[in-house]
Formats: sequence, structure tokens, C-alpha cells
Amino acid sequence: MAESLNGLKRSHRCTEVSNELIDKKVTVMGWVQKRRNLGGLIFVDLRDRSGLLQIVFDEPVIGKEGFDKAYTLRNEFVIAVEGTVKKREAAVNESLKTGDIEVIASSLRILSEAETPPFPIEEGITTKDELRLKHRYLDLRRPDLRDNLILRSRVCNIVRNFLIDEGFIEIETPILQKSTPEGARDYLVPSRVHPGEFYALPQSPQLFKQLLMCSGFDRYFQIAKCFRDEDLRADRQPEFTQIDMELSFVDMDDVIDVNERLLKRVFKEAIGVDVSLPIRRMSWQEAMDRFGTDKPDVRFGMELKDVSEVVRGCEFGVFSGAIENGGSVRGINVKGQGSMSRKKIDKLVEYAKGVGAKGLAYLCVNDDGSYKSSFAKFMTEDELSNLVNALEGEPGDLLLFAADKDKIVWEVLGSLRCNLAAELDLIPKDEFAFLWITDFPLFEYSEDQERYVAMHHPFTMPYEEDIEYLISDPAKVRAIAYDIVLNGCELGGGSIRIHREDVQKKMFEALGLSEEVANERFGFLLDAFSYGVPPHAGLAYGLDRMVMLMCGADSIRDVIAFPKVKDASCLMTEAPTAVDDAQLEELGLKIEIAE
Ligand code: AMO
Ligand code: AMP
Repeated sequence: MAESLNGLKRSHRCTEVSNELIDKKVTVMGWVQKRRNLGGLIFVDLRDRSGLLQIVFDEPVIGKEGFDKAYTLRNEFVIAVEGTVKKREAAVNESLKTGDIEVIASSLRILSEAETPPFPIEEGITTKDELRLKHRYLDLRRPDLRDNLILRSRVCNIVRNFLIDEGFIEIETPILQKSTPEGARDYLVPSRVHPGEFYALPQSPQLFKQLLMCSGFDRYFQIAKCFRDEDLRADRQPEFTQIDMELSFVDMDDVIDVNERLLKRVFKEAIGVDVSLPIRRMSWQEAMDRFGTDKPDVRFGMELKDVSEVVRGCEFGVFSGAIENGGSVRGINVKGQGSMSRKKIDKLVEYAKGVGAKGLAYLCVNDDGSYKSSFAKFMTEDELSNLVNALEGEPGDLLLFAADKDKIVWEVLGSLRCNLAAELDLIPKDEFAFLWITDFPLFEYSEDQERYVAMHHPFTMPYEEDIEYLISDPAKVRAIAYDIVLNGCELGGGSIRIHREDVQKKMFEALGLSEEVANERFGFLLDAFSYGVPPHAGLAYGLDRMVMLMCGADSIRDVIAFPKVKDASCLMTEAPTAVDDAQLEELGLKIEIAE
């Protein structure tokens, strides 16, 4: 039978009990990790969020009733123990913070009994994800997940303190917002009072933080929940958290400066990592050319090389054809892998096809200087040696080439580069390689929508000298936008915003939004700007990603208390679920599932 506290107060968390308390009385509370009976004594490892502490039940000390009670303890029972701290006589456990002490119990209360948990509450278990997520509250008892969440809390605290010291004001923005589709898909919430109308959950506080600049707050921040109805990945959840900020009267260097100091502080205080400043900057174009991605992992080499000029007009149709079609041929040098088996190379080709390639051409430089290759027979000796030289190929190297439109070539070789580096163990695990990516294109062409869409969002300022091309040559316009990348992951991003009406109008025009549609969607923002708007800029980090990288987790799921799974459902609560007819009626809705 479970007992109550009846006024009993906890004096310490498990690992707060230390050598300095020898012979002192303490009261500790927590979960039974393990019970062992040994030589007439009962030993219990008591667990709370701080860690483990050994409790000893000895009949002469606790009495028969207490001893018998201790005998009934099973894993995950919740107990309260009063006792005296003693130095351990034997079996000192070096791996435990409290490994050289124990508490000799003088009283025991069982606060709650427990069923046998469906999986062991231990570090590094191999239990199936589904089962762990169904019982997430139990999974969170395990030290790895628990420590991730504790780190997350610490990160938030450091960020908050830093930003407040820097003159930022924390302001909450609405969760029920107007739907302004541009970017990811919105989550919609039906309105009861306005049947047939919907709110949207925020994809980010973007428009509101810009309005706060109009209001004169000057420096805003928020640790903000954001919602995006996109496909899940390891670094994407439908609801996630941003560290969001906006500043007035600043340029890009000002934003970068305060954020570099923020990163330095957070990484040092949270995990003891020194971030050396200034963080390297690289233009989007350079990142794409060298790494095939706008979020390069610069902890290892294997950079892309454009060999279009070397193979232009060659007999190998795959190469010359791609160039004639306005594409390019690029390659990577996988050092020392020239003797890779045909089977393994075929796997690489399959991988490349999986990320959009039509094929992958390879050339192994044999030790005697000859080649093993899928295309050498189509090329002259000169062309081949120029190709090898362009990639700084040496005997024993494996050269891989993709030929297609730039976008595909980048995607294929960029992914292949990361995939191979992971497989060949080329990535230094303890390194934190930060990088700013700047000068993004303002637009990207959407094949689906057959129009230009904003690469960042429609409020991003183009470079002054590019403004004249907004309508005539949108592809040429560069944005004053910046992403912060860490170890190949986009940690955050932001931009200088458009505060000039003439530029914003042209931007909407370039996006194919008529004045009417622009007003309908963003009228409130444009109105606000008409009453005096300061030049402003901002940035948002993915908090989940930041913490994931800090604790070396593979997925942001491991740093979110109650995450969703691939199909955006919650295995524990089973959300989303159908709702009562009465609820639907109140909202004036009828459900008809479209085919
Ligand atoms: P952006 O869309 O780049 O910019 O988002 C900023 C950062 O948020 C994180 N992030 C995500 N994290 C987890 N799951 C997701 N589905 C997800 N989507 C984004 C990323 C990303 O870098 N309002 C602008 C910022 C600004 O301009 O100030 C914005 O939202 O780490
Ligand atoms: P094929 O002429 O299609 O048999 O291709 C000859 C070689 O070129 C094979 O090794 C293909 O994998 C490779 N290949 C085909 N298309 C491409 C491409 N777009 N880029 C690089 N290699 C390719």
C-alpha cells in the first residue's frame, strides 16, 4: 500500500549526498533502480534525476518491520528513506559519483508501487523505438535522455541570460495566427466563432517580430514553438523550437557579431567547447562549388571539382551532353579507395541514383598508373590525365564523376561526399566546425509552381546593386541572408529585412503576387511599415538542432521530451485522433475525406 509524505521533506537529491555528509542524517526520495540481498543486508540503488545512491537496509538499525518492507521493494517503486551517511566499507564503485558512500536507512516509506516496466531503465538500451516512445515517460527516466533534457534547459537559460544582458526583450507572439502560405505547409485550426475560417499555427514568429521592430522594441527575442507540416527527418519535427531574435538599426555584421558571442558563450558554458571567433564565412556559391550543399560539413575534405572545361567536347556523350545542355561535370577524389571492389562501387552508383543521379562515372587510378574506369574507353589519354590532374588524383585513388544540371550534380556529389566520409570514418567526432553561409540567391525556381519563390522568405533584402534585376533577371539577385552551419547541419538562419516599400513591392511582383493578393496576405505588415519602420534584421536558431549537436545525438527526437514519429503522430497519446461529432458540429464542420 502506498504511503503519503505526511510532512516528510527531502533533504538532498541522490548525488548531492557526498563525503562531506558522513555521519549526518539525510532524507532522500526516488525510484528503486535495483535491489540486492547480500549477507543479511538489503542493498538498494536509489535513482532520481541527479543519479544513483546506495541505500543499505540492516535489520538491527531499521527494525523488523522496516526490514520486511525493504524486502518487498521491486524495481521502479518510489520510496522515501531517512538514514545516516557512511563511508562504504567495501565495494567502492569508482564509476558512480556517490560510489564511496552509502546511506544506512533508519526508516523507509513506499510512496508508490510499480509494475515491471516494459524495458529496462538503463543507459544505452537497444529496445525498439516504438515501445520506448509509447512509454516515453519511462524512457525519460533513463540517464541519456534525462541528461539531454537537462542540457536543453541549461542552454535555454544561458541564451536567455546572454540576450537579456545584451538588451534584448523577451516577447511572446501569438500561436493562433493568420495563414500566410509561403514556405512550408501550415497547420490549421478551425474557428468556432467564425465557421469555415481557420487560424494557422506559426511556422515562425517572422511577421510579428518585424512588427515589434515597427513598435520600437529594438531588440526582441523569444524561445518560440514553431509548427510546420513537412515530412519528418532526423533533424525535422512538425513542432520544434526556435531561438528567435530581431534587431533594429543594424547591418549583417552587427547580427553576426552578437550571434558569434552568443554561440561562444552557450557552447562554452553548456558543454565546455571553445568556439574560436570570428567564425569563418563562405558565400553560397563557394559552398555549392566546393561542397555541393549550402550546409557543408567542413570537418573533412573530399571537395568537389568542376571538370567541365576538361571534358567539354569529349567523346563520352554523358559528359559532353550534360555540358551542351547547360549543366556541368564535377568530381570528387576518394583518396586511397582505388582498390574498392566493383560491388562496392556499384553500391555507390545505386546510392547516387537514389539521390537523383542518372548514373555515376568512376575512374580508379591503379598503382601502375593505368586506369580502371566506366568511361576511360571513350576518352583520349590526354583527356584522362587532365581529368586525373584536375582532381589531384594519385595512384590508389578513386575518382567519381556526376554529369547533369548543376543542381543535380551538387546534390549527388554533396550527398555522396558525406555518405562516404561517414562510411570511411573520415569525420573527426569531437570537432565543432561552425561556418556562416552568406550571399544566398534571393529566389529559387520552383518547378512545381512554375515560378520563382523566395529562398528564405519574401521579406529578405536583396543587395542594393542587385535590386535593378528583381524583375528582369531574378536568378541573378543575391539576398543579404546568412545561415549558420555546424558540422553539416543548418543550425540557424536569418536576413536583413526589406524596410523599403519600393523594394517590397518589386519583391512581391517578382514572386508573382499581385498587389491585391499581397495586400490580402500581408496588408497588416505593409500598413505597419507605412507608419515608420526602422531598418531591421534577425535570425533564428533551431534549438532542438543545437542541443542535438551538443550532446552528439543522431536525431532531434532525442532532445525533445515528447516527440512525434515519422507520420507526425504521437505514439504515447495516439494524437492525432478523430473528434466527437459534437465538437465538429460546434465548429460547423463536416468531415468528408477526399480520395
Ligand atoms: P528558418 O525557416 O531557416 O528561418 O528556420 C530557422 C531554423 O529553425 C530550424 N528548423 C527546424 N528545426 C526542427 N524541425 C523543423 N521542421 C525545422 N525547420 C526549421 C533550423 C533553421 O535553421 N523566420 C526565419 C528566421 C529569420 O529570418 O529570422 C526562419 O524561420 O535550425
Ligand atoms: P551509360 O552510357 O548509360 O552506360 O553510362 C556509362 C557510364 O556513365 C556508367 O558508369 C554510368 O553510371 C555513368 N553515367 C551515366 N549517366 C551519368 C551521369 N549523368 N553522370 C555521371 N555518370 C553517368
